[in-house]
Amino acid sequence: MADSSLAEAWGRYWRADRLASCGGEGGRQYQAAIVEHWLGILDALPSPVSLLDLCCGNGALALLAVRRLRARGATAVVSGVDRAPIDPARWLSADRDDLGRVRFHGDVAAEDLPFPPGTFTAVFGQYALEYTDVPRTLDACRRVLAPGGTLAFVLHAREGITARSAAAQREGIGRLRALGYFAAADRLALRYARGGPETEEAVRLFAAKDRALAELARGAAEPAMYANVGGVIRDALAHLGRVPPAVVRAKIAEVAEHVGDHDARTGALLAAARSKEEVADLFAPLRAADFRPVGDCPEALCGPHGLLGWTVRLVRAGGRGGG
Ligand SMILES: C[S@@+](CC[C@H](N)C(=O)[O-])C[C@H]1O[C@@H](n2cnc3c(N)ncnc32)[C@H](O)[C@@H]1O
Repeated sequence: MADSSLAEAWGRYWRADRLASCGGEGGRQYQAAIVEHWLGILDALPSPVSLLDLCCGNGALALLAVRRLRARGATAVVSGVDRAPIDPARWLSADRDDLGRVRFHGDVAAEDLPFPPGTFTAVFGQYALEYTDVPRTLDACRRVLAPGGTLAFVLHAREGITARSAAAQREGIGRLRALGYFAAADRLALRYARGGPETEEAVRLFAAKDRALAELARGAAEPAMYANVGGVIRDALAHLGRVPPAVVRAKIAEVAEHVGDHDARTGALLAAARSKEEVADLFAPLRAADFRPVGDCPEALCGPHGLLGWTVRLVRAGGRGGG
């Protein structure tokens, strides 16, 4: 999928009342282990703080930073950039006051950060850097990070639970596509008003596909996607005769687009996920220049269900230090 289509898919994803993307709890904040990890880093930042949340999505990390830094009494300016056309204050129903304290910039590539050199004392990214052209993004981070500033990331682990779940979901989407479920639903919506044998045939075909969908769900590692798709499509078809077929067909097309977007995003996640050694290699140029690691770099971040990702934390030489 082209970069622009992927950015559009992310844009559609963030135009909803959701804070998290990869394994967040109930669509809101990320898993407790990730939150705890960031709180520890935020507590070590010297005030005043000027923080950039890279590839921020709907601002889960930026929000955490605003709250924790305020609770600590630190003076802070928090910004977020994302290549997608984000607008969290418009879409999120909770956290509105704190969201209003973050300077969000949509349509901004991490590789081309539009800030003067040394603007930030901290550049963070949660499931972020690995989606970008990493060497270019790290150059951009280095440019906008002040001496003594902190660079910190949580990155997808190839052998982690998020990547495993994404792989299972992609397999599921592949089976759904091969089934031709959306085409059968669309055919039924198109023929419904005409009546006659063609309509009966379309009804039979869709019923067969629906049974096959239920069968797929029974054997799936991640059955929720099949249940959601089936539920929405059956509900749309139940409106035939009460609303124009075009309305039902538009709903079917919308669900198919959601599934396509999900496929693109999980594909991007799987391409972004790295082994521990690969993550170490990504940061070798910074370590050879003027950054020193804090603790193990990378380090495994685990939750109750397994590996959530790799953490990296580096402090740039000069300035007041910290981290
Ligand atoms: C997995 S989401 C994580 C979002 C957010 N950091 C979070 O933790 O909820 C990855 C984000 O990276 C953004 N992204 C991907 N490539 C990018 C790039 N080159 N520059 C800026 N943002 C990018 C996507 O639009 C998406 O919002």
